[in-house]
Amino acid sequence: MSRLQIAVFASGQGSNCRAIFDAIVNKKLNADIGLVVTNNPDAGVLTWAKEKHLPFAYISSEQFGDKKQFHETLLKTLAFYNIQLIVLAGYMKKIGLPLIEAFPNKILNIHPALLPAFGGKGMYGEHVHKAVIEYGAKVTGITIHLVDAEYDHGAIVMQKTLEVLDKDTPQTLAERVLELEHQTYYQAVRLFAENRIEVRGRKVYLS
Ligand code: GRF
Repeated sequence: MSRLQIAVFASGQGSNCRAIFDAIVNKKLNADIGLVVTNNPDAGVLTWAKEKHLPFAYISSEQFGDKKQFHETLLKTLAFYNIQLIVLAGYMKKIGLPLIEAFPNKILNIHPALLPAFGGKGMYGEHVHKAVIEYGAKVTGITIHLVDAEYDHGAIVMQKTLEVLDKDTPQTLAERVLELEHQTYYQAVRLFAENRIEVRGRKVYLS
């Protein structure tokens, strides 16, 4: 079976990207990171990608006169590297329709809460964990979902839960949630690598 070619999109440190890479190296995922894309020239993930000699691309809408050129450049770059699945991992920009249409049910995102709770525009990073703690939620977790035209709205592929501790701060909770992300994201990618995903409307069936 040929190896799934994935592009990881990240705007920050890229710890999820590194966790997926480690799963590949440890033969837990039959895929390749064919491309690392960032919108942030100072992203830690860029430094890491260079150290690992992975193809990378700094592509940001700010570099282009219009969104059309941005999307064309992004799509051409993804095609050049034969990308089959896009994995958003701490990518802070909204995915535009041209990308969603070019990769139907082939764009994944990871959100640090149990969607549809604590999701949507502005709900990222510690904002999420602060809201979870302030609401008094007893359980939180992660959601890995397909990306559609709305923030944090696409069909859910996997969810994992973890307990919110009384002593938790947004920082301590963020650390434990991030660790759960690292343990889980590659498993969702593996479902695509093994062709075990069937999407029917909002429902995702795993075979
Ligand atoms: C994580 O908190 C994830 O839930 C969110 O962005 C963060 C990823 O961080 N989508 P990193 O860049 O992978 O470390």
